[in-house]
Amino acid sequence: MREIAEAIYVFLPAGVANATPPLLTRFLGPGRAIDGGRQWRGRPLLGAHKTWQGLIGGSCAGIATFALQRRFDGLDVPMSFGIAISVGALAGDLVKSFVKRRLAVVPGRSWFPFDQIDYVIGGLAAGALFVQFPPVIIAATIAAYFVLHLVVSAIGYALGIKTAPI
Ligand code: CTP
Ligand code: MG
Repeated sequence: MREIAEAIYVFLPAGVANATPPLLTRFLGPGRAIDGGRQWRGRPLLGAHKTWQGLIGGSCAGIATFALQRRFDGLDVPMSFGIAISVGALAGDLVKSFVKRRLAVVPGRSWFPFDQIDYVIGGLAAGALFVQFPPVIIAATIAAYFVLHLVVSAIGYALGIKTAPI
């Protein structure tokens, strides 16, 4: 149980980074597509919904979360770790979208369980460059954020922010 709480706290910046882009779209409108409308073999590289606004805004929100944790908690972890897990989470999301497009899954259509863990894998992989995670923390992070993603998605769907319930 303590591991779960610790995992949720340590990985919070990545969770915030991943949850921010849909909110930005909801309140600012759609941003500029990262793939610039480019296609590969007749399919979008990523899709028009993967935007610079989401990537940059989400990264900043994650990094700000980490900065607050450091400031008010005296967390003795380098700033580079917070940057890595935030940007890594959103990079993981983009890699997942790239694969979805290759498999002709339309944007927004649920692709269980990869939509739920893309950002966790991306964030953990990038964070591992700076901090050595104990295996139990890796397992706890994946499990906790898998469940949290389901909960947050359901809430986002109910509020009309997400197009799919999971
Ligand atoms: N979003 C964004 N920029 C990003 C990632 C996400 O603007 N880099 C916004 C888009 O409005 C997107 C929403 O957040 O529709 C939800 O993102 P996500 O759930 O990750 O994408 P899906 O709609 O599931 O698309 P995909 O099929 O590519 O996974
Ligand atoms: Mg996603």
